[in-house]
Amino acid sequence: MSNFTPVYATMRAIGAYVPPKILSNSDLEKMVDTSDEWILKRTGIKERHIAEADVATSDLAVEASRDAIARAGIEAQDIDLVICATVTPDYFNMPSTSCIISNKLGIRNVQAFDISAACSGFVYGLSIAKAFIESGMKKNVLLIGAEKFSSIVDYTDRSTCILFGDGAGAAIISATTDASEKIIDIHASADGSYSDFLMTPAPGTVNPVTQEVIEQGLQYVKMKGNETFKLAVKTLTKDVKEILAHNGISSDKIDHFVPHQANYRIIKAVGDSLKLKEEQIILTVGKYGNTSAASIPMAINDIYESGRLRYGDLMLLDTFGGGLTWASALLPFAGKN
Ligand code: UT7
Repeated sequence: MSNFTPVYATMRAIGAYVPPKILSNSDLEKMVDTSDEWILKRTGIKERHIAEADVATSDLAVEASRDAIARAGIEAQDIDLVICATVTPDYFNMPSTSCIISNKLGIRNVQAFDISAACSGFVYGLSIAKAFIESGMKKNVLLIGAEKFSSIVDYTDRSTCILFGDGAGAAIISATTDASEKIIDIHASADGSYSDFLMTPAPGTVNPVTQEVIEQGLQYVKMKGNETFKLAVKTLTKDVKEILAHNGISSDKIDHFVPHQANYRIIKAVGDSLKLKEEQIILTVGKYGNTSAASIPMAINDIYESGRLRYGDLMLLDTFGGGLTWASALLPFAGKN
């Protein structure tokens, strides 16, 4: 008989941070031709948080990480891998934001790298953390989604500047031998034929920084909003149905559906397609806007801090973003309350 004990990956703790400054819809009314009514009706967003000029993405990430580490009951030294999902790194392209975060947290001589999957970054990162842990290579992964999205927003473009906010979320993904705690499944996918739906054209090898590039505003996020919206509803609906069917789980068993917080109407459409009740659907887009890779861990932290998220609760995560990328995950929460 073999003595082999399988090792699983589990979400042991969550943390998040938003910078204090708020940019409200009425503030935006003074900046571009828009209205509180239009923004609320089309997106569900009331306000978003914006970091000060001297605050970097890593600073937001460090605050979120400190909470997650403390709640996991571990020390920074117990972490053996740091992954930061971001499309607004401290520097394009080195050093990675993960290296800067590790240094600020006092985590030394540990593998650290960033991943770029836009809004899907956190769930993509979860699949990487899971693979590292289940292969036996790592025991405690600090997984972060952090964005200073305001740094790539053109505040004269009403079609994008109303949507995005800054923030960070962090989770500790740890090894466990308790199968009831394991991350059940993750589906992640991409289709680069839609790469122009949501992009920042510069800086990069296609558009290195020049005066002309800056004058054209190519460093700012560009989005084919309506086309992205339609594809998001279609893809996410299909994706959540597939992951539930694949695991033989019906939607009424989901305690918390935690979708990417881009637009209330997208979330509602996906929720309706699964016949979810209102209390199953986590909505934070109204107060944070779209925080890209940070949106899902920030939303998980919201229900954790409000006492709604309990040990063993089943979560369904679902996200969609630039690339285009999309991903879903089924997992219980295995943190302490
Ligand atoms: O996070 C990654 C994934 N991202 C998403 O999933 C975002 C997906 N897209 C969306 O959430 C929506 O497409 C938006 C909220 C961005 C836009 O809503 P929409 O219902 O798709 O509007 P639209 O782009 O079709 O624009 C409708 C009208 C246009 O005017 P006309 O051409 O009908 O006269 C726009 O110029 O609304 C106008 N408009 C605005 N009006 C007031 C666009 N932005 C604004 C604005 N205020 N901020």
